[in-house]
Amino acid sequence: MPAPPYQELLDYVLIDAERLQARIAELGKQISSDYQHDNDLILIGILKGSLLFMSDLMRHITVAHTIDFMDVTSYGAGVRSSTGMVRILMDLQVPIEKRNVLIVEDIIDSGRTLEYVLRLLGARRPASLRVCTLLDKFERREVIIPVDYTGFKIPNVFVFGYGLDIDEYYRNLPFIGVVKPEAAINFING
Ligand code: IMP
Ligand code: MG
Repeated sequence: MPAPPYQELLDYVLIDAERLQARIAELGKQISSDYQHDNDLILIGILKGSLLFMSDLMRHITVAHTIDFMDVTSYGAGVRSSTGMVRILMDLQVPIEKRNVLIVEDIIDSGRTLEYVLRLLGARRPASLRVCTLLDKFERREVIIPVDYTGFKIPNVFVFGYGLDIDEYYRNLPFIGVVKPEAAINFING
């Protein structure tokens, strides 16, 4: 079944494009200030959800940095809650030893994905390891994750757009929307 126009799935816009961009500019400014004396910064985007956030955020980071990406999946993806079993689909291209690493995530839900990524990257002995997430669904946290930069704390609703998908679609939308519960179920079940 082809993906219906997003309007059919959208309950309401949670964060519009203007608010997103304004907050991302603030995050970029804060990160630039915090890292001004640390050279060798590398931003690591967790695919695919962080793609849009990463590209907008880095435009506001004025200190020299490089980027890389990692793709991970949790077993039982598609299910609402991750099982805690995480697997690497694509690893980094470069070593991060002695570098200042900033992980860029779209959303933290249970925290299981990030817990795994932090343990994995921490073992590679970076000079520092911090987390920047656009969205934090804090009510659903199952493990304690140190989050250094948060764009928006959001309630326990299923969101899409601006990198976040429903069944891989709608990542291109410039805003964060809340899905109509019944619409999502119909679409995903085909
Ligand atoms: P965690 O391991 O439970 O923290 O799950 C994090 C991942 O689940 C994110 O990187 C997203 O891919 C996905 N996710 C969690 N909540 C949502 C949502 O509301 N919309 C779309 N994807 C979500
Ligand atoms: Mg997803």
